[in-house]
Amino acid sequence: MSIKEIAAAELNPAEFIERQIKTISETVGAGTAINALSGGVDSSTVTLLGHKALGDRLKTYFIDNGLMREGEPERVVSLFRDFGVAVQVVDAQEEFFKALKGIRDPEQKREAIAQTFYKSVFARLMRESGARYLLHGTILTDVDETVAGIKRQHNVFEQMGINPEEAFGYRIIEPLVQLRKDGVRRVAQALGLPAAVYNRIPFPGPALAARVIGEVTPERIATVRKATAITEELLSATEAFQYMAILHEDRVTGIRNGKRSYGQQIEIRCWDSHDARRALPTRLDWEILENLSLRILDEVPDVVSVTYHIAPKPPSTIEAI
Ligand code: XMP
Repeated sequence: MSIKEIAAAELNPAEFIERQIKTISETVGAGTAINALSGGVDSSTVTLLGHKALGDRLKTYFIDNGLMREGEPERVVSLFRDFGVAVQVVDAQEEFFKALKGIRDPEQKREAIAQTFYKSVFARLMRESGARYLLHGTILTDVDETVAGIKRQHNVFEQMGINPEEAFGYRIIEPLVQLRKDGVRRVAQALGLPAAVYNRIPFPGPALAARVIGEVTPERIATVRKATAITEELLSATEAFQYMAILHEDRVTGIRNGKRSYGQQIEIRCWDSHDARRALPTRLDWEILENLSLRILDEVPDVVSVTYHIAPKPPSTIEAI
């Protein structure tokens, strides 16, 4: 089934919102649905559409997979409380780290995360809540890149020949699947979400696991989380589409306290792009790059090298895995 794109320029947000609310209400009927809110623009938009359509019959969960950025659960719960949405935090950290243990291959990591989300965590929440529908923030770019075989986005099934009802025991509703990021941002703004949400840089479903090359462990996530916080703090004033820190697997020789230290490497990426399909590295000021390097070397334990990524997409991709 091919999906009809609604380009941001031809989108009427108010009309789109009304139509999606109607579709969600009609599809779910008198039943209940659940959704997972990560705090990004896609899942925040879906949460408000679902909340408007179903009220209390939508249960919204924040799945704490242990791979999220600093302070995320608290931030998301408090923001949505203001919209009358009671977000329940599900602690699934151990489950995800267990599923990721020993895996180094990028696609296998994505698969382990997808299986843990859909087969284990969501299936359990569905059973416990009695819901039959999962509301999901898949957008058209996720579908395109998965179909093209570039990257298995964690949330695409039908196009991969997977029937969620047979595979996981529930149906998936995707209100945003005709839109790209720019369209979703317009809908988010029209729903009254704050600029900090509708202008927020994209963040991948596999979260910080997409930014750790090699095995994902709680310690390595803590390292990339710290570097991410510094990178986001220093680059938030740029107009860039997306920016991130990546933890490499290879160690390199450095010096600490006058002695050789075989330390870790952080790579910074910062992208100019409209829709993530093509992207160019941002021409950041040298001073910003220097600051980033000094802060990371100073504040992230065991790091002795900081590099800046200068290859365009394609052939590079935005995330490193
Ligand atoms: P890539 O790395 O494929 O990323 O050039 C394109 C855009 O998609 C984001 N991304 C993801 N988003 N689930 C998502 O929801 C994923 O599995 C995923 N992988 C990448 C990435 O951050 C960029 O904005």
